[in-house]
Amino acid sequence: MDLLTNTSSVSEFILLGLSSSQEIQILFFAIFFLIYVAIIVGNLLIVISVIFDNHLHSPMYFFLANLSFFDLCLSSAATPKVISDFLRKRKTISWWGCMTQMFFMHFFGGGEMSLLIAMAIDRYAAICRPLHYKTIMSHKVLTGLLLLSWAVGLMHTTSQMVFTVGLPFCGPNVMDSFFCDLPLVIKLACTETYNLQLLVAMNSGLLSLGCFLLLLMSYILMLVTIRQHSFSASSKALSTLSAHITVVTLFFGPAIFIYAFPFNSYSVDKFLSIFYSIITPFLNPIIYTLRNQEMKAAMKRLSRQHMVSWLTH
Ligand SMILES: *[C@@H]1O[C@H](CO)[C@@H](O)[C@H](O)[C@H]1NC(C)=O
Repeated sequence: MDLLTNTSSVSEFILLGLSSSQEIQILFFAIFFLIYVAIIVGNLLIVISVIFDNHLHSPMYFFLANLSFFDLCLSSAATPKVISDFLRKRKTISWWGCMTQMFFMHFFGGGEMSLLIAMAIDRYAAICRPLHYKTIMSHKVLTGLLLLSWAVGLMHTTSQMVFTVGLPFCGPNVMDSFFCDLPLVIKLACTETYNLQLLVAMNSGLLSLGCFLLLLMSYILMLVTIRQHSFSASSKALSTLSAHITVVTLFFGPAIFIYAFPFNSYSVDKFLSIFYSIITPFLNPIIYTLRNQEMKAAMKRLSRQHMVSWLTH
């Protein structure tokens, strides 16, 4: 701690938030609060259903439950503080709070991006190699892909934060955002940060851009394969895939825009960052899971079991 206070005199940052109007902030408070509750309830429901329902013990559902777990973590990294900040006039965050927020946002964000790729590999194997699916997606491969997602997230965030925690902050500490976003924090440092900005653009920017392109490619491959088999299946697949592509675009689009081009920041950036910090964790369960018939059936079974045990006790 002594070392840190020697090099940096800024002990807290000031966030300008989404709006300066009191009424609009109360409105944002209500909206964000409701969305956050929905994120927690929806994603927890999915994790619990998959863990407790034997019908859902297949790779696809394990991936979906793990995606929900990532969504829970990703949205909890900053959102609770953001929500309580809407009711505060002066929104401050300590140096430690800021660094922790960025570490976890990129940890879970990077992990989620890699998990989406792992899920695409799983779906690709199921659709394009159905006869070999069981051998391709063995328990070992499944566990390996899950661990790899966590590892990618950890390496991704560590490689950026190692340089960020060492930055000296000596004066300006006001950020036009509602949480600590890496490119904005780096700009506040009182030293030359060109190389670090470049690193972030290469690291975060390329990770999001690369994952996005891979996902689009996998969707196209799957669609082409399904089309060859039957026309009716392909129209159903098209509607499912277009929903996926919408969510994936909402998640990756803003991230690519903000991180791949960190040198010019726009005031729309903070509104765009709402998408990957809170909108995607909210939409993921709806698009990927709750539309799924088998998942709905499992949730019914679960609630029925629960009612029975509750009534008989
Ligand atoms: C993630 O997937 C694994 C299967 O490898 C499963 O055992 C675990 O319960 C899943 N995690 C969550 C939080 O659902």
